[in-house]
Amino acid sequence: MTETTQPSSADDEASRPTRAWSMILPRNTTDASRTGLVDRPAPEELGYELVDRPEPPPVPNGWYAATSSASLQVGQVQSFIAVERQLVVFRDDGGAAHVMDAHCPHMGAHLGGGSVRGSNLQCPYHGWRFAGDGAVVEIPYSDSRIPSRACVRSYPVLEQEGLVLFWYHAGRAEPTYTVPTFDEAHDPSWSEPHEYRGELVASLQDMAENNVDYTHFFFVHGRDALDESTSQFGTDGPFSTVVERFDEKGLSFTRFTYGPGIALLRIPNIATVLTTTTPIDRRHVRLLWHFYFAPGIEPLADDIIDGVVGEHGLGADVPIWRDKVFLDRPLLVKGDGPITEFRRWYEQFYEGSRPQIDEAPR
Ligand code: FES
Ligand SMILES: [Fe+2]
Repeated sequence: MTETTQPSSADDEASRPTRAWSMILPRNTTDASRTGLVDRPAPEELGYELVDRPEPPPVPNGWYAATSSASLQVGQVQSFIAVERQLVVFRDDGGAAHVMDAHCPHMGAHLGGGSVRGSNLQCPYHGWRFAGDGAVVEIPYSDSRIPSRACVRSYPVLEQEGLVLFWYHAGRAEPTYTVPTFDEAHDPSWSEPHEYRGELVASLQDMAENNVDYTHFFFVHGRDALDESTSQFGTDGPFSTVVERFDEKGLSFTRFTYGPGIALLRIPNIATVLTTTTPIDRRHVRLLWHFYFAPGIEPLADDIIDGVVGEHGLGADVPIWRDKVFLDRPLLVKGDGPITEFRRWYEQFYEGSRPQIDEAPR
């Protein structure tokens, strides 16, 4: 697997023989607002109590990425923060991955410093051992009965296509959907995944809404604004799909979204990108994306990744997301795109975490 942690700098661009991405998706205007790239600090970095920064929405329920399969060896424990919690993920000696809360119920040690023993995780402080379902199965130095409350919260895990996914639900319900697999990841004529990782200051829903926000494509990304004739949004239970058509190029992008944390972007004959967005808390998101390239396209990988995540792609959205607030009732007008429909669909992921909204925002 090839790793990319930062988009390549603009200085590198001149040395590239082909600007592949600009041929796929040209920028048609230079009017894109670069004033979004402000030099002021993020509001949350200031130590002020601001009344005009309402809390973003809670963490939605869904499947999220814990890490990539390749980065978690047998017998390894990793600590991470997600869904507003400190968590650990470990791979037991049988190869199965498990995700659980990080703090030991005995005296509160962090299990990330622990070690894998067979199928269990051993706490670093006094050696209590936890099975993958979070239950304490052994207290090595005591013959007293294991207390009935001796367990940590564990999270259902799904490992597929190079990702360790875990299920989070505010009401602790079992998974309500599964994440579909896709052929490119198993097709030897396609490339191995190129990995991109990043962290953003953003509310998860703000990021997701971006895909149906027609007008921002012009002002933020320098592209033609979309409308109903070139972009379609459809839903199917916890899944949604956005199709963007670029008729003059005979090209279409399809973005399949599987709940709030996983999406698959298909650019036919060029690349398929498995994107995961994991809420760290309500204001921070971790990205773990795998780019698969169609036969013959891999030499252009860096340019395509840069086109997607670089200064005119994801990078142009970053300052907007960082500084904006999430409005429950935005002032939507004709031309804004199917944001109301999107929100109606997205509301299902807040079950158990906030009152249902009776009326769609106008
Ligand atoms: S704190 Fe974990 S075994 Fe004591
Ligand atoms: Fe965007």
